[in-house]
Amino acid sequence: MIRSVVVGSGSALPARAVSNAEMAEMVDTSDEWIVERTGIRNRHIAAEGETTATLAADAARKAIEAAGLAPADIGLIVLATATPDQTFPATATKVQDLLGCHGGIAFDVAAVCSGFLYALATADSMLRTGMAKRALVIGAETFSRILDWEDRTTCVLFGDGAGAIVLEAREVDEDGPGVIFSQLHADGAHNELLYVDGGVSTTGTVGKVRMKGREVFRHAVTNLASVLETVLKETGFTAEDIDWVVPHQANARILDATARKLGLPAEKVVVTVDQHANTSAASVPLAFDAAVRDGRIKPGDLVMLEAMGGGFTWGASLVRI
Ligand code: UT7
Repeated sequence: MIRSVVVGSGSALPARAVSNAEMAEMVDTSDEWIVERTGIRNRHIAAEGETTATLAADAARKAIEAAGLAPADIGLIVLATATPDQTFPATATKVQDLLGCHGGIAFDVAAVCSGFLYALATADSMLRTGMAKRALVIGAETFSRILDWEDRTTCVLFGDGAGAIVLEAREVDEDGPGVIFSQLHADGAHNELLYVDGGVSTTGTVGKVRMKGREVFRHAVTNLASVLETVLKETGFTAEDIDWVVPHQANARILDATARKLGLPAEKVVVTVDQHANTSAASVPLAFDAAVRDGRIKPGDLVMLEAMGGGFTWGASLVRI
């Protein structure tokens, strides 16, 4: 069978790290509150001139290098973001230009924090139908640009960054590597729980992030546990078969609650929320790359990727490395 095999990963973070103590100088909060409620200790914030596209291109270059390939080998770029450089054209086309690999397919996917899962499933489908041989799947955000820096209930939670993987279409056996199964969902009824209060077609402004955190938390745990159960049922694997879970990094308590619901030991969950905060579409590939580079995720491992975000959107993908 043909599967999309992960042949390289990379990530990029802005140089500027901002601690909880620094956040407490801006809004009425404390290191203690942020750590206790979210597990976040640090986030990275893009400098002037550092954009979603430049972070994405940095992550992409590292992923291409890790795969032992050159930019010219990439025929498809799918970039997930809610914070594009421009309303149009797609940030993916800017990344294509920065990498110097013109002529292939390049477009953005908008599914906020679930964006990387949507991008991965889209690229996987396109590779398996032969539209390209190799794809860059990128999650990249500069969420700092749409935060209300006077709203303590949101501004302490998010950060900037980018992560990327290279997928290659390969003929493999049933137990071989590649994306095994993906499941995506959306429910547009919950727009008012997590949204941006502006847009091109409504206010003509970019807007700021607004969130009813407690309600989002409840939906996140329920939806994630449900989609993970579906993926296990559809593929015939059990929680014990999973080597690593790479979740969207919104809140350490969501990671704990979801793992508990599935009976997965906390040691199998890759956690970077403490260092990166919530980087929306970038959080899954950032965490994945961290665990590949420090040697936790190895060839042959069975890895579950999962995310939930604005829309609501949510999804999971089971991948053999
Ligand atoms: O990535 C997309 C998905 N997003 C998420 O999954 C986020 C999900 N939600 C969460 O992670 C959590 O709900 C939050 C971290 C956003 C909030 O934690 P919580 O335990 O649900 O707190 P809460 O919203 O119920 O607020 C508790 C209290 C409130 O004060 P009162 O009303 O009890 O007096 C807030 O005003 O904490 C207060 N508060 C803060 N205090 C200090 C809210 N933000 C802050 C803050 N510092 N930054």
